[in-house]
Amino acid sequence: MRKPVLIGNWKMNGSLQANQALMVRLLPRLRMFRKSMDLAVCPPLPYLFQVRDLLGYTGIALGAQNASAFVSGAYTGEVSATMLQEMGCRYVLVGHSERRTLYGETNQDVAARFRAVMSVGLTPVLCVGESLEEREADQTSTVVANQIQAVIDEVGLSSLAKGVVAYEPVWAIGTGRTATPEQVSMVHQDIRSFVGRNASEASQDISDALRIIYGGSVKPENAFDLFGLADVDGGLIGGASLHSEDFGAIAGALAEASGLLTDECETN
Ligand code: 13P
Repeated sequence: MRKPVLIGNWKMNGSLQANQALMVRLLPRLRMFRKSMDLAVCPPLPYLFQVRDLLGYTGIALGAQNASAFVSGAYTGEVSATMLQEMGCRYVLVGHSERRTLYGETNQDVAARFRAVMSVGLTPVLCVGESLEEREADQTSTVVANQIQAVIDEVGLSSLAKGVVAYEPVWAIGTGRTATPEQVSMVHQDIRSFVGRNASEASQDISDALRIIYGGSVKPENAFDLFGLADVDGGLIGGASLHSEDFGAIAGALAEASGLLTDECETN
């Protein structure tokens, strides 16, 4: 069984004061889910230290929103995976659509970043997804397959599966426009079968084990329907992760949809 994952991507939001207030309210809401799912928050870089201290020994992991493909050197503005590891990160997002569209990261750049993150023992969260134009041109499968294939070409299939794949349709991010359960289900199935068709003996096992999460306007109201889909193993949450009540409710929906609302979960 694949362990559910829920990650909050704070994007470029927060302040020392706001982060403290958010975490104080959020941690008690997440506490009961910490054994049944992998939970993480990804604050902006300057706050990693602060949020790491606030997380303490709660079992909730720290993540970052990107990492350089390089280990060190003259790359102004970049941060290496080793630095993130040293700061206590466990997850790193790579290839978020905002990085791809606003900062021109190509499939090859993203694959190199994925490799860098993996090589220091952190878990890369590979974000994939199509734009509205690509969806309307019936290109969704091809676009997503190419994004994943670039990473397979770079690190191999078994390494891909050590990460998490996050399907985030670009048109559903921050727009309030969520993909329907049918649309999400189709793409997640597509990703799993694409990985399963890879010409390696273990591809079926790898595909079965791969965790594929959904992101794009997930809210407490739609989370249960999305997380209840067979091939959806959790969520990557933007806006709603900045609100403790919403993120807590989304974690509850994930636990419920995954059949994890046991007595242990409720009392822990
Ligand atoms: P929203 O949940 O705000 O749509 O953002 C999704 C996202 O981009 C998470 O990485």
